[in-house]
Amino acid sequence: MATDFDLESLLNARRGQRLGGEIEWFESIDSTSTRARELARRGAGEGLCVIADQQTAGRGRLGRSWASPAGRNLYISIVLRPAVALEVVPQLTLVAGLSAARAATELVPETRIKWPNDLLVRGRKVAGLLTEMEATPGSVDFVILGIGVNLNLRPDDLPEELRDKAAGLISFREGQSAIDRAAFAGRLLTHLQSDYDVFVREGFASLREAWNARSTLTGRRVDVDSSGQRTVGVVEGLAEDGTLRLRTDDGREARIVAGDVTIVDGYGR
Ligand code: BTN
Repeated sequence: MATDFDLESLLNARRGQRLGGEIEWFESIDSTSTRARELARRGAGEGLCVIADQQTAGRGRLGRSWASPAGRNLYISIVLRPAVALEVVPQLTLVAGLSAARAATELVPETRIKWPNDLLVRGRKVAGLLTEMEATPGSVDFVILGIGVNLNLRPDDLPEELRDKAAGLISFREGQSAIDRAAFAGRLLTHLQSDYDVFVREGFASLREAWNARSTLTGRRVDVDSSGQRTVGVVEGLAEDGTLRLRTDDGREARIVAGDVTIVDGYGR
């Protein structure tokens, strides 16, 4: 279902706010994250957002592409200039995932986070996050937070092979009435502004409980591929620094910093 994007109401809702107070909107662009990076390199301030109705070269993690049809979803990239140590920047993906989950849960309460950067409903991916950083030795220059949320996406919009893997939030709503994309962007930015402030002030540890409560992995047996190295075990939750804690079959605790996670026993929820 194609819907208009009510940019005017989003601008009104975000006027004067730190995140999303300034928005660049495109009918069509290669990638909102590429554009946001160009703007950040030219000095754009924290909070500038690039939003597009359609992306012709949407980027996902690990060099994958991100399906970005027109009139359906939210494609947003946000310039951040966090005053934090370089080594905690990867935790921003978790912070933004939590904020996106809070917004999605308002529409579909069953939404869960799959570490590190996916939102799932009944095992189908409804959102993904891509965090890209530029730094000068020792300090963060800027971070581009790219978020794609499948809102009014229908199975017909997806290639056959993705239909059982991805879905729009609309598919899980009673009556399947269209989701207002601009209103959703506003809710996401509101949650992100408050979670981001907590993160910069207190660190990820203060958000960990909220994150764990929405995690789809806790208690599940998983197989993690970290650049070719495999770890199999049961997820015990997130450590304070955002790494994934696994209990392996030989009783050891493993901490996963980055990797692709497969749930071994399928998705039960
Ligand atoms: C993933 O799950 O692999 C991450 C997907 C991130 C997609 C978003 S859509 C807005 C922004 N622009 C891009 O090109 N990618 C991100």
